[in-house]
Formats: sequence, C-alpha cells, structure tokens
Amino acid sequence: MPEAKKKNVLVTGGAGFVAPYLYDELIKHDYHVIMTKLASEQGLENYPYQTLDILNKEQIKEILLKYQIAYIVHLAGISSVKFSWENPTLTQKINVEGTRNILEAIRQINPQIRIILVSSGEVYGPSLLTEMPLKEIHPLHPNNPYAISKKVMEEMAKNEYQDLDYIIARPFNHSGPRQAKNFVIMDFASQIAQIEKGKQPPLIDVGNLDAYRDFLDVRDVVKAYRLLLEKGKRSEIYNIASQSPQKIGDILKELLSLSKEQIEIKINQDKFRPLETKYYYGDCSKLISATGFQPSYAFKDTLNDILSYARK
Ligand code: GDD
Repeated sequence: MPEAKKKNVLVTGGAGFVAPYLYDELIKHDYHVIMTKLASEQGLENYPYQTLDILNKEQIKEILLKYQIAYIVHLAGISSVKFSWENPTLTQKINVEGTRNILEAIRQINPQIRIILVSSGEVYGPSLLTEMPLKEIHPLHPNNPYAISKKVMEEMAKNEYQDLDYIIARPFNHSGPRQAKNFVIMDFASQIAQIEKGKQPPLIDVGNLDAYRDFLDVRDVVKAYRLLLEKGKRSEIYNIASQSPQKIGDILKELLSLSKEQIEIKINQDKFRPLETKYYYGDCSKLISATGFQPSYAFKDTLNDILSYARK
C-alpha cells in the first residue's frame, strides 16, 4: 500500500509492555503507527516514539492536529493492581482524567476518530462461581483502586462521550516476554532464571497461589485490539479472554518443571493483596462473533517464551 494511503493509528503508553506488540501487529497489517511515551520513560530500542503526557491537554491536541489520526488505542495508564493499592490517587488521576483529556481532544479536533479504551476484566470483581464465565452484561463489583478506576473510565465514556466513536475492551490477564517483573508469570520466571544463574538462593518467593486467572498471550491480545478497530461496534464492550481459568499455583508448578533446579516455594504474605478476587474467567464469544478472533498462542508456549526471555 502506498505510504499516503495508510491509516494513522495513535498508540498511547508506548513504554509499556503491550504497546510495542501492538505496534508490530499494526505495522504488519499496513497501518502507520504513532506511538507515544512520557519524556522520562525509556522505551525499546528500534521503535520510534513521540513524546506525550496524557495529563497535558495541549500536547494531546497538538499530536491529533499534526497527524491525521484515524484510530487510537489508549494503552497509557496504571496497569498494576498491586501498585494501585499503594497509589490509589495517582491511579484514578491517570486512568480517569488522562482518558478524559484524550476524549476531550478527540471531540475538539476530530470526533470521527475511533478509540479503543482499554479497561480490564478486573472490573467484574468477585462473582458467584455459577455465573462463570463472565459476560459483558455481568454486573460490576470492582474491589481494588485499579479496577475502580477502569469502571469509572467506562462510565465516563458511556455517560459523557456518547457522541464519540469509542469501544471498550476488557482484556483479562495477558503475559509474554518483556512483561514487568511485578506481574505474576514474569515474577516467577525471573526468579527461576536468577536461581539458575546462582544469583538467588533456590527459594522462590510467591504470593497467593490459590487465585485463578484467565491468561492470553499478549500477541493475541494485540490482535484483538486491531480486530476491534476494524470490526468492533461503536459504544460496545468486548471481553478479551482465553475462556479458561488457570490456577496460579499450577502455573508455578509448570514453570518449575521447565527448570532443572530443585527450587523450594516460600509463601510471602507481603505479596498478598488487601482484597482479591479468587476465581474468575471471561466469556469471549461477543468478540469472536464480531471479529472472528481466535488466539494463536498455546499457554505452554507463552510460558516457555517468558522463561527463555527471563534467562537472557
Ligand atoms: N505479581 C504477583 N507475584 N502475583 C502473584 C504472585 C507473585 O509472586 N503470587 C501469586 N500472585 C497472584 C496475584 O495475587 C493475582 O491473583 C495473580 O497472581 C495475578 O497477579 P498479577 O500478575 O499481578 O495480575 P492481576 O491479575 O492482579 O492484574 C492483571 O490482570 C488484569 C486483568 O485481569 C493486570 O495485567 C491488569 O492490568 C489487568 O487488567
């Protein structure tokens, strides 16, 4: 496709874990991508970045004016539940007011822009087991500052920005190489790698192993974002989920079985959350019927890739 005909996609949160994967996915499908990060953030080598602080309204407008943006995937924000317990005010500010700034800029500069607002499967909160898997119409009971901020973001879009072309994505857990060590699979994998290198005693420090989560590979999640840009329906909410629960303790066992080291498990109460949803997983049929989405990565391969990355 000639360069001029490519659609411009703005991806916020470029220094985060997900954005470079989305960048690759979009480039592969002939989009032109403008990926943004804070001036203070590092970013990956070999990826181009523009500087943007989503708390700076003028900067957002400048970017929308400079590039003829067709689509936005808004990934910038606080994504760690644990961090949100320690920083609830900052979490609300960035996840809610930062999103508002982008929606306001869209309204002023070009209301035709389609935006994916990245919420979370965490918004459902504790539910009865009989109600699994969680569907988009399920009532929301968020039980941590992160999930509350995402629910508020959703309500804000629904009630105040109905005139805009937004879609809400509710991804459940996703993982892959390069994820930060404060997320569970990379946390376990990086400790195993340190133990193998002799840099940590053969004792792995873990939190709540009785929780269950619904994991997809990040490379499948970004495919879902692209498909939603292309085929999602305006104002709709879509779960992005594997539709099967994984026990955290079983993930740990699986990772340990990929190592030759004899590693003991140490339960660390400091890694537990003040409150946490023990068991949940998502129904993804709405996304599948709207877009034809099918994940490509087997969970075992994701674990292998993460451990290989951690060993580097
Ligand atoms: N990080 C971590 N470290 N988590 C542990 C550990 C550990 O040593 N041991 C057990 N866990 C448990 C946590 O208590 C939680 O139940 C689960 O592993 C997953 O934890 P995280 O990887 O920190 O993710 P999360 O489920 O809290 O949130 C993630 O998923 C959401 C969607 O469901 C994040 O990616 C959110 O951004 C995302 O929206």
